[in-house]
This record gives sequence, structure tokens and C-alpha cells, in this order.
Amino acid sequence: MELTRQRELLERIIGFQNSGSDPMADAVMTQPADRYVRADHFQREQSVLFSSLPLVVGASDDVRSPGDFFADDLSGRPLLIVRGDDGVLRGFHNSCGHRGASVESRDTGCSRRFTCPYHAWSYDNLGVLVSIPNDDGFADLDRSTRSLVELPVEERHGLVWAVPNAGPNETIDVGSFLGWGFAPFTGGVLSYIDMVGTKDFVAECEKLAQECGPRFAPPALLRDMAAKGKGFYQ
Ligand code: FES
Repeated sequence: MELTRQRELLERIIGFQNSGSDPMADAVMTQPADRYVRADHFQREQSVLFSSLPLVVGASDDVRSPGDFFADDLSGRPLLIVRGDDGVLRGFHNSCGHRGASVESRDTGCSRRFTCPYHAWSYDNLGVLVSIPNDDGFADLDRSTRSLVELPVEERHGLVWAVPNAGPNETIDVGSFLGWGFAPFTGGVLSYIDMVGTKDFVAECEKLAQECGPRFAPPALLRDMAAKGKGFYQ
């Protein structure tokens, strides 16, 4: 969506809030039902919007200390986001380097080790494979090739962004992705969201998400954040 169009839409939303009106159409509208049920449409959305572009997967607030992690599969791919003992936030595929089982089944927590429940291979919170029980069966294994597979993540505006389907050498640049960033809205949308408060927060964010497309968090995530009383900032 073009920058001008985005600004136009956001100004409209703010206008509705300021005037106490709403964006109802003048008359009843109909939408083709297949927009909601077409499998190919859904697949395209999943692969283009929710796997290959920077996606908000959580709040920095959720992973503020070394070892803090959350697991997420909103994008359709199991992700493990963890702050290492070195203070760096990393994202991994939540998939063991042995046979691919999930190494962490909890949604959130704080841990120095992630131990696969299948054959107990163990990873530190930097994603490095550190232990293989009975490793005499793996004498020739180059352990460095079996660390958790990393994917690009970035913390920006108090949010954690990831590219769930990134290739091995892909990077993430949320600033470029947003293009114009949130800066123009520090007196606008963000303060407007603050004003709205928790009760209406979700509804308003869903409107934003619907009107502004993938550059905002999926409504399900926002709902979850609001339910937990999370804000955008620490
Ligand atoms: S699948 Fe994880 S240790 Fe075997």
C-alpha cells in the first residue's frame, strides 16, 4: 500500500475517533463470500504476508531478561524467540537438529537450556547444540551443523519482528519495511491508541490491521497482548 494511501487511511481513523463518528458505509455492502473461504487465497496470504515479510510476533516486554522466551506459530511456522545469556534476542525454528521435534513446548518461560523431549538433545539459549546423550552413536557428527536454525528478528518500537520463512542469508530491516516508520504517528495513532485504553484497544487495532494490511500485527496477537495487559512499550 502506498504511503499516501496509508496516511490517508490513518488520518480517517483518527478523524472518526476525534469526531465520535464511525466508518459505516452509506448503504448495506456485500462481499463475495469466496474471499473468506478460498484455499488458494489463504495459502497466498500465508506465504506472502505472514511468512516472507517482517511480522510482529510479540512484544519486547515479553523477553526482557536473559533466558526469557516465547514460542509462536501464528505464522504457521513454529518459532522460538529467546533472549540469550549475552542479551541478544534471537529467533529460531522451534525444531530439533536431530529429527525435527519441537525443542520447547511451553508458550513462554525463562530457560538456559532447551532440551528436545524426543532423544534429549539439548541447546543453549543462543541456539547452540550443547549436549547429545549417548553421543558415541554420533562420533562423526559435526555438531556445529545441528544448532537451531536461526531466522532474522529485530526489536523495534517495543515490538519483536520476525521473518518466519526467511532463507539462510536473509536479513530483516523493519525500518525499510515500514518505510516511513512510526515516527510520524507519535503524536497521532500511538497516542490515540493510548487514549483508547484497554477495553477498545483490540477493536481499534483490528480496524487498523484491516485497513492498513500486513504492516500491523495480526489481530489474534493484539487480542492476546491486550488480554495479558501488555502494551507496546516496556
Ligand atoms: S528429535 Fe530431538 S533429540 Fe531426536
